[in-house]
Amino acid sequence: MTAKRRTAVLISGRGSNMVALAEASADPRYPAEIVLVLSNRPDAAGLATAAARGIPTIAIDHRPFGRDRAAHEAAVDAALRAHGVEIVCLAGYLRLLSPFLVSRWSGRMLNIHPSLLPDYKGLHTHERVLAAGETRHGCTVHLVTEDLDSGPILAQADVPVLPGDTPEGLSARVLEAEHALYPRALAALASGPLPSAPPAP
Ligand code: GRF
Repeated sequence: MTAKRRTAVLISGRGSNMVALAEASADPRYPAEIVLVLSNRPDAAGLATAAARGIPTIAIDHRPFGRDRAAHEAAVDAALRAHGVEIVCLAGYLRLLSPFLVSRWSGRMLNIHPSLLPDYKGLHTHERVLAAGETRHGCTVHLVTEDLDSGPILAQADVPVLPGDTPEGLSARVLEAEHALYPRALAALASGPLPSAPPAP
């Protein structure tokens, strides 16, 4: 089989989607491997989880960079290149990305969002879905573009909203669907041709 695509997962918190991707990639037939878990928060729980699985981790704290988003992203980009990364998966990475990073990884950067996009972009999706009285909810994996939660959709999974659902219960049901969906979407991307790799800036 051809070499597995070298994949980084960017996180800011617990990293349960990162674990789902790492577990899937442990299968020798899976077309991607997780070679780096990177966080903008040194205290992200997912960093310790990844390290315990033997996955290289890096924290690049955004706070010392202040308002210099470009400098933080340049450091992130350099770390990705230093690890020979081919595909980037955002998984609970709570930073808005500038056109610099997005354009460099165009067609190679995925995000998972807890709603059936294009509905419910942004934060607090479970609360908003319940407040609107929806009967269906779910999650989406999409390519990252400059507009938040708006890139081409690669895969979706839907879950029912049940009578009496709380945001927590609904979130847990969606998260379970996320853990199945994200590895499928990454496998599909990693199995095909990718746009040319970003050159050193
Ligand atoms: C997930 O719900 C994901 O869809 C959203 O942030 C959450 C991250 O959870 N973007 P985890 O860190 O993967 O557990």
